[in-house]
Amino acid sequence: MKRMLSGIKPSGQLTLGNYIGALKEFVKYQDEYDMYVFIANLHTLTVYQDPEILRKNLRDTVLLYLACGLDPKKTKIFMQSDIMEQAQLGFILSCNIYLGELNRMTQYKDKLSKGEEGLSSGFYVYPTLMAADILAYQPDYVPVGDDQKQHVELTRDVAVRFNNRYGETFKVPEPLIPKQGARIMSLSDPSKKMSKSDASDKGCIYLLDDPKAARKKVMSAVTDSINEINYDPKNQAGVANLLTIHSALSGVSIDVLVEQFKGQGYGTLKKAVADEVEKLLIQLQTSYKELLDQNILKEVLAQGKASAQGIAHATLVEVQTKVGIEI
Ligand code: AMP
Ligand code: TRP
Repeated sequence: MKRMLSGIKPSGQLTLGNYIGALKEFVKYQDEYDMYVFIANLHTLTVYQDPEILRKNLRDTVLLYLACGLDPKKTKIFMQSDIMEQAQLGFILSCNIYLGELNRMTQYKDKLSKGEEGLSSGFYVYPTLMAADILAYQPDYVPVGDDQKQHVELTRDVAVRFNNRYGETFKVPEPLIPKQGARIMSLSDPSKKMSKSDASDKGCIYLLDDPKAARKKVMSAVTDSINEINYDPKNQAGVANLLTIHSALSGVSIDVLVEQFKGQGYGTLKKAVADEVEKLLIQLQTSYKELLDQNILKEVLAQGKASAQGIAHATLVEVQTKVGIEI
């Protein structure tokens, strides 16, 4: 079975965009791959986080992944900071990654060009830790969003470089980028991605939103004045977004939905989407509350750590031996 690994950075509450673009996909992958999913809690610290809010986000993220159907019997779910081998490997890899490479990372360049002040050195070097997060587990595939592709490419480069310098050590992993169709847009501005960093709350549905409030957000989604239901993301971005959400949640294809809603008003489509969203949130939140009551978080993470650590440890020992620091 091929191995797959991904990290989730819980720097905010999870959204419907995360559910459709990532959580739902991971649940599907766990049946096809030897699956490793970790919570990148060290990565969240690259930008200051309020400790209490961070703790809550970390817990909610794990519980929501479980509520969505990530099964700890199939997927190894663990906390990044629990596997110290990752950070140690990170330092060794940083010694094999050039400053010039980090200077070329678009996330870093964007922040610099916006004149952002107070960037931490942790933020600058985090791609080196990400490379270690990945290479420690020797995965075949790494599913990530578009914005993380460059970091996976850097990971591949350092893997190849290390293998050339010290002999075959790392598997060179492939990034898996979700198809464009999986991009859920803001309900209040369908030209922008639905994101937890949205300025307005109206366009973004959080998985822990009150289901009735989420309904209202869907019902007030921005559409257009064409008044015809077509799937045309360019000219009717709002309607296309509603159709995409419906299709992702109901499993009915967009073509069939367009046929089904033909000749009806936008209100009817919005109501149908609101029904799907409400159903999902009620189901997820019921499961989330049950898991919270069962108090299983620590147990799940301990189990994940137990299955993951051995692999990271073996990789680290091999690396330390190859570079010559084990005497
Ligand atoms: P983020 O929360 O932006 O760090 O994203 C985490 C993952 O969730 C990404 O890798 C994407 O796969 C997915 N994701 C986030 N926002 C969206 C969105 N609006 N539509 C689809 N997928 C998304
Ligand atoms: N850096 C990623 C993000 O910001 C999260 C992450 C950390 C990750 N380590 C990883 C993703 C390893 C994939 C593999 O979203």
